[in-house]
Amino acid sequence: MRQQFSLKQPTSSSPTDRRLNSLLRHLGNSSMDSQNPNSKIATSLTSASNADSFFQNVVQGPEDPILGVTVAYNKDPSPNKLNLGVGAYRTEEGKPLVLNVVRHAEQLIVNDQSRIKEYLPITGLADFNKLSAKLIFGADSPAIQENRIVTVQCLSGTGSLRVGAEFLARHHHRRTIYIPQPTWGNHPKIFTIAGLSVKYYRYYDPATRGLDFRGLLEDLSSAPSGAIVLLHACAHNPTGVDPTNDQWEQIRQLIRSKTLLPFFDSAYQGFASGSLDADAQPVRMFVADGGECFAAQSYAKNMGLYGERVGALSIVCKNADVAGKVESQLKLVVRPMYSNPPIHGAKIVATILKDRDMYNEWTVELKAMADRIISMRKQLFDALQSRGTPGDWSHIIKQIGMFTFTGLNTEQVAFMTKEYHIYMTSDGRISMAGLSSRTVPHLADAIHAAVTRAA
Ligand SMILES: Cc1ncc(COP(=O)(O)O)c(C=O)c1O
Repeated sequence: MRQQFSLKQPTSSSPTDRRLNSLLRHLGNSSMDSQNPNSKIATSLTSASNADSFFQNVVQGPEDPILGVTVAYNKDPSPNKLNLGVGAYRTEEGKPLVLNVVRHAEQLIVNDQSRIKEYLPITGLADFNKLSAKLIFGADSPAIQENRIVTVQCLSGTGSLRVGAEFLARHHHRRTIYIPQPTWGNHPKIFTIAGLSVKYYRYYDPATRGLDFRGLLEDLSSAPSGAIVLLHACAHNPTGVDPTNDQWEQIRQLIRSKTLLPFFDSAYQGFASGSLDADAQPVRMFVADGGECFAAQSYAKNMGLYGERVGALSIVCKNADVAGKVESQLKLVVRPMYSNPPIHGAKIVATILKDRDMYNEWTVELKAMADRIISMRKQLFDALQSRGTPGDWSHIIKQIGMFTFTGLNTEQVAFMTKEYHIYMTSDGRISMAGLSSRTVPHLADAIHAAVTRAA
């Protein structure tokens, strides 16, 4: 927004005020010939046309498809409006949640008199990195003991993916990444902007509202050797459809036999099943075979640290020698990008992960969030059943994690937004974490009406 200068004269005579006074005198003198010495400045600041701008050719960019849902929601004055667009957890009362264990950790951090605000190393807080690796790969992971994993603290899941992508674009011989169709909307942008060529593999079958396992295997079988494969570690976004353990094992065998490079995106560890270990199983399966892989972790959802932007990128290498060299190159990626990561979020995570009691407290709170989401699935399914809504809605209880891929089409979504003030992405994805027992009937009414009237 353009600001007008207020040229009020400072009255005291501190050094700053003296500098300001002399600046004002200078500005006043340079417009002596005007009736009002300030008017020229004000006019030039407010009435400039676009033609005066260096950026006159910049066109209006589109709103982000996910965050844009919240922009539209915020503008809606309806008291019944419901935002199921963004993947952030809400309580039964529809409020954002700060975990008790996070508040506790923050108290300890604030009360720590030895706390300083120096820069972290380029790779972040060492304790945080070690503990994050243990969390995803398992405390007893041989790869950790063999020092062949390098972990760097990054800016949440997105930043971890971005740093990993940049490293791959510089150092991997095959600059092609296969991502699932569909996937989180930011994935293609993150990898493309880093310089990788993005291709899709089949993932979701709209007919069964489940995994297109055959399509997935076929597409990965025809990927060129060395290609990178992005895998959602659990709670696939947006579909809520995950492979079974047997299917994961087949995917692993295929990826290894074709010498593809797996890149796990783990944004929901603990959210899918309520168990941190169970949700990390696919990643651990790949690490156990001794092969290399990437993993991007986010603490946004599972610790509710969304805005703290805390996450980690791990690269599992063949041996410690390679890991050391990879780390040195990761530093060269990070240094000119953002220099080093922020302290606070990483401190919170490290405080919780290294204390047994706090860790246990976290797992209880995490399980409660996961259970509430599971219960929302059940309630929505029951509500549709009781309304006799046409169609098979069992996918609502079969899908996993934060989102349900409802199968509603763009017109039905638009209808629900217009008539019921319910906001979601146009692909029909709804965040179950944004629902509550109070709002389930409203959503069920809207779906029922959309299916029977706006089909
Ligand atoms: C699949 C997936 N990956 C990564 C992220 C990154 O989230 P953040 O950068 O907030 O950690 C998200 C967030 O919605 C996601 O759904």
